Amino acid sequence: MANQTTKVRAAIVGLGWPGMQHLKGYTVDPRSEVIAVCDLDKTRVQEVAAEYKIPNTYTNHLEMLKNQDIDAVSVCLPNFLHAPISIDALNAGKHVLCEKPPARSAQEAKAMADTAAQNRKTLMYALVQRFDGNTQQLKQLVREGELGDIYFGKAGYVRRRGIPIGREGWFVDKERAGGGALIDIGVHALDCVWWLMNSPRPVEVMGTSYSHFKHLVPDNVKYDVDDATFAQILFENGATIILETTWALNLPGDNYIKVAGTKAGATLSPFTLYTEENGKGLDKPLSAPSINGFDEEVKHFVECIVDDKEPISSAEQGIMLMQMLDGIYESAEKGQSVSIADISAKGK
Ligand SMILES: NC(=O)c1ccc[n+]([C@@H]2O[C@H](COP(=O)([O-])OP(=O)(O)OC[C@H]3O[C@@H](n4cnc5c(N)ncnc54)[C@H](O)[C@@H]3O)[C@@H](O)[C@H]2O)c1
Repeated sequence: MANQTTKVRAAIVGLGWPGMQHLKGYTVDPRSEVIAVCDLDKTRVQEVAAEYKIPNTYTNHLEMLKNQDIDAVSVCLPNFLHAPISIDALNAGKHVLCEKPPARSAQEAKAMADTAAQNRKTLMYALVQRFDGNTQQLKQLVREGELGDIYFGKAGYVRRRGIPIGREGWFVDKERAGGGALIDIGVHALDCVWWLMNSPRPVEVMGTSYSHFKHLVPDNVKYDVDDATFAQILFENGATIILETTWALNLPGDNYIKVAGTKAGATLSPFTLYTEENGKGLDKPLSAPSINGFDEEVKHFVECIVDDKEPISSAEQGIMLMQMLDGIYESAEKGQSVSIADISAKGK
């Protein structure tokens, strides 16, 4: 779509909170506009279309995909719909920006990547933490070599109490969500720290998962997912990531990203560079402009379509990210470490 004169015409399927963040992102970018919205909830579709003056409304995504004017689709749906609806959109010739997690498994993410490649369309994952001001600024320091070779990362997304349920309880149903805290919020923390470490290839994972907070959801809701997962991941380049993620834990909530390299280390919060002077530790406060991660994420997607570029959160990275999550869940189930080579050999 290089040298385009018209705007990228986007559609949003799924008008929950993330869907609305995507919609606003396209609206503020002068190179894009939203021309269609789709949700099962007809009233919601009508309300959003009226508020944002969107001409085309649908309650069925297949009907929406027949609209030849749509160039790109944001898939902001429950996890079990990421793969099938992204694949439908790619096969209909649309570019796709799919919400996190990429899918329920690496196998689904692979099918999505293959479909994007066959149709020569952009498939990008909406991994919004990469687009926050501090993360972008730190990534720039990493690119400039300020941290040296990064060999350790630690990431946490820990809620004391905060189990989402979603429409018809899909968040806490393994079949529909693919997992619990790890696939829902752990994916944000893991992806962010992994990207800052230049996305090394994972080789081995060890994980433990727990489910102790069923009493926090209504009795009639099926609950068969992890509410806490802890993991260690080893990479081809020798690096290590330690991850902790919980929807509920009897400790204070915590959200952190830490990376350490041969020259310096850094944390996103407090946003600080940890370096050395005369053999002693020296802390250097960092700062970054405050930006809206969702706007930046959508802007990047639009830019990739217009300039024919590979997204930073690409289809291939989505597969690797899902291999790590699959590996952690399998390791937790087996009670032993799992090799990523075995995960990919199983077609995952
Ligand atoms: N990036 C973030 O910070 C962030 C935050 C929350 C959720 N998410 C992700 O966004 C996705 C959606 O989460 P949610 O909390 O909005 O879920 P949700 O249960 O609120 O569902 C979103 C919307 O999708 C609609 N929907 C469901 N099935 C549909 C279908 N077949 N066709 C059309 N519309 C359909 C529902 O009616 C609902 O309005 C999930 O994958 C979740 O992981 C991301």
